Amino acid sequence: MRNALLIVLGLVIGVMGTVFALNALHEHQPLSHTVMTMMDHHAGALRQAVKSRQCDAAQTQLHLTRLLQTQADLKEAFPGVDQPFLDEAAKLKDKTQAALQAAPADCAALATALKPIAETCQSCHQQYR
Ligand code: HEC
Repeated sequence: MRNALLIVLGLVIGVMGTVFALNALHEHQPLSHTVMTMMDHHAGALRQAVKSRQCDAAQTQLHLTRLLQTQADLKEAFPGVDQPFLDEAAKLKDKTQAALQAAPADCAALATALKPIAETCQSCHQQYR
């Protein structure tokens, strides 16, 4: 009788553990999409500015700052990733910081600053997306 109870208890705990683990897996999904969508929004606004030849320096700084800030949630959005993923994320941060420091004042400068950022988005996507 006691053994049967222990087996039932073990099963219940096992099922609960699986449910929690599955919830945790699903919970990180929305954040990973949200972080990427936000980065895409700010990078897209900058790309659009270059395309339409309207590169306001203050707007550029704002979008680059938001792009950089959003990256602070990358690690949290992708729990348990490997070191090369984190290296790509660090590279993106470096490139975004460099772009901010360059303070692009016109479209030519903005296009130059965006190139290494776009390349880093691409290289991580090729490996992990
Ligand atoms: C460190 C790796 C990495 C970097 C750097 C990175 N991404 Fe991503 N991106 C991913 C992964 C992984 C996915 C798939 C996410 C998922 O399915 O949950 C993704 C998905 C996306 C998506 C699709 C979102 C969705 O809802 O599925 C967009 C848009 C995106 N990334 C934009 C960007 C932009 C713009 C940049 C650069 C500013 C960037 N990413 C840089 C790893 C990265």
